[in-house]
This record gives sequence, C-alpha cells and structure tokens, in this order.
Amino acid sequence: MSKIDLNNITKAWGEKAAVTGLNLSIADGELVALLGPSGCGKSTTLMMLAGIYAPTSGDILFDGHRVNEVEPRDRNVGIVFQSYALYPNMTVRENILFPLRFKGKVGAAENKRAEEMADLVEIGALLDRRPSQLSGGQQQRVALARALIKRPNLLLLDEPLSNLDATLRLTMRTEIKKLQRELGVTTILVTHDQLEATTMADRVVCMNAGTIEQSGSADDLYLRPSSLFIAGFIGSPQMNLLPATASGNAVACGALQMPITGTLNGDVMLGLRPEYLRFAEEGIGGNIASIEPMGREVLYAVQTELGLLRVLEAGALPRLSAGETVKIAIERDKSLIFDQAHGQRTELKLAA
Ligand SMILES: Nc1ncnc2c1ncn2[C@@H]1O[C@H](COP(=O)(O)OP(=O)(O)OP(=O)(O)O)[C@@H](O)[C@H]1O
Ligand SMILES: [Mg+2]
Repeated sequence: MSKIDLNNITKAWGEKAAVTGLNLSIADGELVALLGPSGCGKSTTLMMLAGIYAPTSGDILFDGHRVNEVEPRDRNVGIVFQSYALYPNMTVRENILFPLRFKGKVGAAENKRAEEMADLVEIGALLDRRPSQLSGGQQQRVALARALIKRPNLLLLDEPLSNLDATLRLTMRTEIKKLQRELGVTTILVTHDQLEATTMADRVVCMNAGTIEQSGSADDLYLRPSSLFIAGFIGSPQMNLLPATASGNAVACGALQMPITGTLNGDVMLGLRPEYLRFAEEGIGGNIASIEPMGREVLYAVQTELGLLRVLEAGALPRLSAGETVKIAIERDKSLIFDQAHGQRTELKLAA
C-alpha cells in the first residue's frame, strides 16, 4: 500500500499539453475518483502513474520515493481498463497469472494465489474457461483479479464499469468498494459517471483541461462548487445558470431585482439547482415548455422571462401539463452567485 504524490506534473505531446502542473496527493488506502469531461487528462494521469507514459516535467512519488524512472513492471501497480483486455487464447487462470510472468516459474504458490484472487471476485468456478466463454461482468472480474494478484501498491481503474449493464454496474460498484476496503489498496477510479464517483470514492477530484478544478467530498462539489465549470459539470439535471448584474446589495436578472446577502458589483452568474426551484403562488412567471418524468422526480423545462429554467419536482407523475402558466419560487438560501469575470463562486447568496 502506498501514499501517492503527483508534484507539479505536466505531460505534453509536442506543443499540446494533456496535463498541466497537476498536484495531487492520495493517502494510503484512499479511494479517489477522477472525474471530468472527455479529453481532460484522466487516462494520461493514470498512464503516468503506471509508468506507461513519462511526465514531461514534475515528480511522481510512491511513499515519498521518486518513481519517474522506475519501469512499469517494477512499480507494482494494478490496472483495469474499460475494455478488459484479457488474452483470448489464455484461460481465466492464465490471464490472472499473467502479471507474475516475470517472476520466472509459476508454481503451486502462484496458482494458489490465483485461486484466492478468483474466489475474492467470485469467479473461482470459471478458472478453466476462456474469456469468450464469459459474460462482460465475469470478464471484468477476471481483469480485477489479474490487477490484484501482485498485491499492488496502487490500483488504477479506468472506467472499469462502463461496459456493464445498469444492474451489474450497481453490484460491481459495491463489490469493488468492499474489496478495496478489505485490501486497503490505494485506488484511483476514473469514471464519467458522477454517481459512481460519489458513491464509491472517499474523495472526488474533478479535472478540467489538464488541471484539477476542485477536489473534495461529493457534498463539496455539489453544494459548494468552486467554479462555474464545476457548477455546470456536477449534477444532473444541470444547474440553471443565469447571467445577471450585481450592483451593491442586489442583483438584476432581466427585469427582476433581487437582494443579496452582501455587496457585489459587476457581471455575475446566478446558479439555481432545479430541485431548489418550485412552483408557487408568487414568483417568476413562465410557461411549461416540456415535461420529462425521471423516475421518482419530474423535470419541467419552463420558458420564463429569465430564459429557460429547469425545475425538478418530487413525485413520479407530472401534476402539470405542457403549456400551463406557472410561477416559480427560488429557495434563496440554496442559490449560488458566481463572479463572471473569473468564473469563481462568491460567498454570497440571494437574500431571503
Ligand atoms: N498518445 C497520445 N498522443 C497525443 N495526444 C494524446 C495521446 N494520448 C492522449 N492525448 C491527448 O491528451 C488529452 C488528454 O487525453 P486523455 O486520454 O488523458 O483524456 P481522458 O480525460 O482520459 O478522456 P476520456 O474521458 O475521453 O477517456 C487529449 O487531448 C488527447 O487527445
Ligand atoms: Mg480516458
């Protein structure tokens, strides 16, 4: 098990940097989720930790020791990719044993270890099969057993569940989390799925264009997004972001004047999560443009004088219809105000 440090890491391909000045420390045994839009540098970061890519500059430390020049096979890192990359002509047992091939002879001890790993991920009965004779979920378990057989210092999971169906993903989430806890292995999980990140990880690190935009608990990112980027990226349905102008103790959004909890001047962005808006007797006038039942909630898109607002209401069935005239009230203490010039969140809110 290891404490991991990425110190001021940059990775450039020619002129173009995939990762820029990245600083990240991961505690021994911690599970960190790396979240971010496509192309933001998540996989590149994992590849550098695995030793497959060399950083252009900066240091990678495992337990305080610099490993930049250490060969991938000597880093003792286990990796699971989205495509399980099992060897089709090998049995499950041979696949799991594969990382031990540099150890020379694979004997009884190694075979026993492979069986233990297979049992751990509940595929003990499938050791003699070939990958083509397994379901996607079973193949994923083989990939996990293979990643764990060397008792890695660091486990890297790059979208490991995205090829699985929804039910299996839920099961595997819980199982991987449990396994990670039991083994106490320091783990980085790359995922596109915010729910996966927030349910599995001790900490969520959100990247944008090669740098870390915010790192924190699920609540930090959801309730206290540091920037407009995080506000727009985290949460589904997306936060409503309305351009407004602050002057003194109020913001003006369209014709609407609203008091705020402090003093601010300049262009701002008002952030209102759909669940913190509700239909009321008094409020912003609008017309329901569309309705989307989302299981236990209904998402309404409402055309208002301020633009299109998303309103999320609890309950499985819509109680309003498209075209209806409504008024929308804001839970003001849940509102966020961002400074448009820098895209950063201010500590101010709409005043009650
Ligand atoms: N081998 C490479 N050569 C040149 N550019 C690369 C290479 N690998 C990645 N890149 C570039 O680096 C950037 C980051 O890529 P990376 O694969 O790390 O993104 P990602 O966050 O994993 O995205 P995704 O969510 O789509 O997997 C991209 O712009 C990509 O085109
Ligand atoms: Mg990737």
